Amino acid sequence: MSRSAHPAGPRYADVLPEGHYSPPPADLNALDPKVWAQTVTRDEDGVVTVGGIAVTELAERFGTPAYLLDEADFRSRVRAWRTAFGSEADVFYAGKAFLSRAVVRWLDEEGLNLDVCSGTELATALSAGMPAERIAFHGNNKSKAEIHRAVEAGVGRIVLDSFQEIVRVAHIAQSLGKRQKVQIRITVGVEAHTHEFIATAHEDQKFGIPLAGGQAAEAVRRALRLDGLELVGIHSHIGSQIFDMSGFEVAAHRVVRLLREIRDEHGIELPEIDLGGGLGIAYTSDDDPREPHEIAKALNEIVSRECEAARLRTPRISVEPGRAIVGPTAFTLYEVGTIKPLEGLRTYVSVDGGMSDNIRTALYDAEYSVALVSRVSDAAPMLVRVVGKHCESGDIVVKDAFLPADLAPGDLIAVPATGAYCRSMASNYNHALRPPVVAVADGEARVIVRRETEEDLLRLDVG
Ligand code: LLP
Repeated sequence: MSRSAHPAGPRYADVLPEGHYSPPPADLNALDPKVWAQTVTRDEDGVVTVGGIAVTELAERFGTPAYLLDEADFRSRVRAWRTAFGSEADVFYAGKAFLSRAVVRWLDEEGLNLDVCSGTELATALSAGMPAERIAFHGNNKSKAEIHRAVEAGVGRIVLDSFQEIVRVAHIAQSLGKRQKVQIRITVGVEAHTHEFIATAHEDQKFGIPLAGGQAAEAVRRALRLDGLELVGIHSHIGSQIFDMSGFEVAAHRVVRLLREIRDEHGIELPEIDLGGGLGIAYTSDDDPREPHEIAKALNEIVSRECEAARLRTPRISVEPGRAIVGPTAFTLYEVGTIKPLEGLRTYVSVDGGMSDNIRTALYDAEYSVALVSRVSDAAPMLVRVVGKHCESGDIVVKDAFLPADLAPGDLIAVPATGAYCRSMASNYNHALRPPVVAVADGEARVIVRRETEEDLLRLDVG
């Protein structure tokens, strides 16, 4: 098919309803630092580099699709969070966003704590040498074996999520002759402005114990009665990909109100309050996330103000950012396979991955951007939908974006901001082999999670 058969950009206005599209960027070759990892740039040949290495070389060495993670960026974000919150607060990286042993070591070296939410995440953390007391263990249905392992290992805290769990953790701790530090996760009844599936503080859902109807106060009563537990605080996580701080404000207000009620009823002031994670990142140039120091300032002010009003000593604050640390640090590198212009509609660009390496678009209607990274181009913008190779029409990676109209099979394109919840939610759909995570820093690239092989898959198939 001749290149001229690819309809160029202007048609986008016909196919997307007014207000549902952004016009093509002025320069398709530009890389917006808001969405790309810190060391990403183009070399003099126009090839995108990360950590000083060209993506063409990385594709040759490690294949595509691949997640390329900018280690310097990861470390600097970790430091920014730690510095912003200082020694008066604790930052726990939420491992669910992306966890590997290298990541655990980086966190340990940079002095951050870790939040895990399964026995296997815990095992990963411990196997990489994270001190157990710097780990918090989450989850709405931890098994007895998982609880046993966590208590035995000596995790710094377990976040209790139900009435059953209060008793389970207490019994297990007692049987091990221990007193386990715990927090109680409550739902404060906040409607976070985010996708329904990632909002977690309204009451009609599986996480936490509702403040409403006095349930949280009752959970506190029960936890205080049990010898195996040391109740150290209250936990609230209102959701994910949130930009607006007002949800945290309401949450903090309600958590502090509970702390005051606890003081009035039991004569104790709980020393900790955890406000969870959920801070948003830029997936496209339209998103404007806050910096860690602004977030720290806002949260500290909110909690101090609320505590002052309630005449409580300000408790130690903790937060659990996952996406805000790892999300922007990686991008997914794909090779363009087929290009299908649909006259009057849009051009479908198929890549060698898809919903198996990024389920977020299909699951949450997430928006991403995309760029041609193996070369620059002066061609006109063409409206594209970047799709995968799976047997499903919802297999979309980037719903609406612009790429140069001379895009051709074999070109490398990359989707930025895929560090969080992409590899960690990857699947083997259609027996796809999950891509590697390659850490790049100072001109060196190193596989930290290797690509799955056919053998890996067939080894599980024992029928
Ligand atoms: N703390 C708790 C208790 C959480 O449940 C979560 C996320 C976090 C912290 C970290 O949230 P973050 O800072 O990463 O937003 N798969 C979804 C996100 C699910 C988040 C689950 N919990 C996505 O791809 O958007």
